Amino acid sequence: MRLLPLVAAIAVGLASAGAAFADDAPAPAHIAVRAAHLVDVQAGKVRDNPLVIIEGEHITEVRYDGQVPAGYNVIDLGSATLLPGLIDCHVHLTGDPNEVKGDYYEAVLKRSSIDSAILSPTYAKRTLDAGFTTVRNLGADDYVDIALRNAINRGDIPGPRMLVSGPPLGATGGHADGTTGFSPWIQFHDINGVADGVDAIRHRVRENVKNGVDVIKFMASAGVLSAEASVGAPQYSQEEMNAVVDEAHRWGKKVAAHAHGAEAIKMAIRAGVDSVEHSSLIDDEGLKLAKQHGTYLDFDVYNDDYILSEYAKKGFPASTVEKEKTVGRLQRENFQRAVKAGEKMAFGTDAGVYPHGWNARQFAVMTKWGMTPMQAIQAATVNAADLLGMTGKVGAVAPGYYADLVAVSGDPLGDVTQLEHVAFVMKGGDVEKNDTRR
Ligand code: ARG
Repeated sequence: MRLLPLVAAIAVGLASAGAAFADDAPAPAHIAVRAAHLVDVQAGKVRDNPLVIIEGEHITEVRYDGQVPAGYNVIDLGSATLLPGLIDCHVHLTGDPNEVKGDYYEAVLKRSSIDSAILSPTYAKRTLDAGFTTVRNLGADDYVDIALRNAINRGDIPGPRMLVSGPPLGATGGHADGTTGFSPWIQFHDINGVADGVDAIRHRVRENVKNGVDVIKFMASAGVLSAEASVGAPQYSQEEMNAVVDEAHRWGKKVAAHAHGAEAIKMAIRAGVDSVEHSSLIDDEGLKLAKQHGTYLDFDVYNDDYILSEYAKKGFPASTVEKEKTVGRLQRENFQRAVKAGEKMAFGTDAGVYPHGWNARQFAVMTKWGMTPMQAIQAATVNAADLLGMTGKVGAVAPGYYADLVAVSGDPLGDVTQLEHVAFVMKGGDVEKNDTRR
């Protein structure tokens, strides 16, 4: 009760500050972006001589007659090709493998979430500069992801639009339990998502919702970077997975399930998850089920290269590298089968397992293993937006969408690695990077 006068005073202060700001606010920017080509991801084709008309944060029109309306400032990108801002459906902006400098346990035992919070804006900026204007952050301890998202949304720091999960749910001793493998006397005083049994799971989902998450993530199976013996064994019962999804959906939140093993993948799909992450060992029945349920499959198919070439050098446990060898190749083969089967697929890299800003390296692996460049680009734009529930806002260059644009100097459909060198990035009408100016 004693707080009330203070709260009222703040509210009055904000109201008058808001009014003053509204009076002084500049008129929304009127910008027209010109380029030689546009990848129209909705139509699945390239169009020439696009002119994207932007008012404030949004695109109002895309025209091809070259006529700039009166009062618009033109950003001319010359011979470049425009695309919608890219979307990565699986990142971890609160960590990076380069934090491990020869000693994994130094990084795990001598740092806290405050260290993560200090570094995460740097990773957010790298991701944005790499052309990823929207990301889904699937897993962070202590709600560091919420603070990061909020700081970006307030305009305090640059970064991509973020949907965040908070701490992922998972079983005691499983992939979400950071103390697995340590002495039973070691405890971390972190906010994590460990929850066993239906009631505890429902409570944990509600905690995450209460603290402001956009999406619920849970560990349906074991993993590579955690200490369990298996990579793919189920870690929740069917009843527990059903409870995660039922509770999350009731609160209007989509659900992403981490799952490597064939059985865990099928259990997660049957529970009604919106996406399966990793999807590594999916079998024919799993592919069929995913189709029936309309479940998105994300395959983080670049990771294997990085883990096998860098992790031992960096000082990660040898067991991690050994586990990776049991899934990496199979994951790529199964990715190819999923492409052939015509599954719903979105772009998710698990960046943070490999360095932030390298997200686009996954495109080359996706095209090597069966996608056309257009399909890979669609996975990271229209399809990703659909999975995130953001169709109409992001993932296409069209009227009403946020003015989130990237440009590359070459032809990304001829050479998808062009996307690794994005020269221009605009988010919500603000130019974040422009290397086309010389
Ligand atoms: N976060 C994942 C895990 O620990 C990374 C898996 C990387 N390997 C792969 N082949 N995608 O399980």
